[in-house]
Amino acid sequence: MWRPQAVGENEPKEVTFLSEVEYGPLAHLYDALNQAARDYGQQVRLIQETLDRWGVGRGARLLDLACATGLHAHRLAAAGHRVVGIDTSIPLLRQACAKANGTSRPSFLCQDMRALGLRAGVFDAVYCLNHTLNYMVTNRDLAGLLAAVWRALRHGGLFIFDFISYLDPSDWQGQWRDTCETADLQVRMTHRYTTDWLKQTCVDRHTYEVRRRGRRTRHQGTDRLRVILVQDLLLHAEMAGLSPVHVCGKWRLDDPVGQTGPVVIARKAREAFTGAHS
Ligand SMILES: C[S@@+](CC[C@H](N)C(=O)[O-])C[C@H]1O[C@@H](n2cnc3c(N)ncnc32)[C@H](O)[C@@H]1O
Repeated sequence: MWRPQAVGENEPKEVTFLSEVEYGPLAHLYDALNQAARDYGQQVRLIQETLDRWGVGRGARLLDLACATGLHAHRLAAAGHRVVGIDTSIPLLRQACAKANGTSRPSFLCQDMRALGLRAGVFDAVYCLNHTLNYMVTNRDLAGLLAAVWRALRHGGLFIFDFISYLDPSDWQGQWRDTCETADLQVRMTHRYTTDWLKQTCVDRHTYEVRRRGRRTRHQGTDRLRVILVQDLLLHAEMAGLSPVHVCGKWRLDDPVGQTGPVVIARKAREAFTGAHS
């Protein structure tokens, strides 16, 4: 069971953490930790509903940016789509590949989403879920990612993404703890957020204490996150030629945006904004 809790407060908050240690030393626990925190089935339904609403049929070519162990990619491939997943974490990609069975398997590649080496203009939709955009700390990172998505999509193709954008600035500051417990696993996590408001970046120092089959281990990591304001990101997307067509809450197309941020559906426009007004 997943019990997020703000230290010193009684009210539980719905907060989902990112962690560098989950992509390396604890990659073997990625599915246990993340499936306890998130409903991947619901997220895949949102992708499918988006494809249906914006006229992308079955058998679509999909690109999963930062696919991790393929929790979305495998489900969408099983539903008949042709899915390519990319990520930079080899331990996570190994698990993604090991899960492949049946005939409709995704392809997994080790690539950096800020500089994709894929054929241009072939994907009907690109998705990037569970706050991965918050990793695009510099404007160069973000611009690289948006340009890579624009190139990968066919004209009119869809970009589906979410990010953390807390409504209360104090949520970007201070210490948080949460716990994940299953029958044979207990993980206690502590996160300390330190935010530089001028640079709009947050440093998340975290410690994971793992107890599994009688063994205890301790892991520490540091993530740098972009503090994203919704309107800013919509503008970045628009200027990159990815026009937002829908903004909703996590994880239904008709939900209002909640306290942790939105899901955005954008569509590839013909041109990216070059800065030259005529
Ligand atoms: C918050 S996880 C989300 C993973 C997956 N989308 C999911 O929902 O389970 C972030 C992922 O981004 C990957 N990642 C971070 N920086 C990346 C980059 N520059 N290019 C590709 N993948 C990256 C990490 O390895 C990790 O798998």
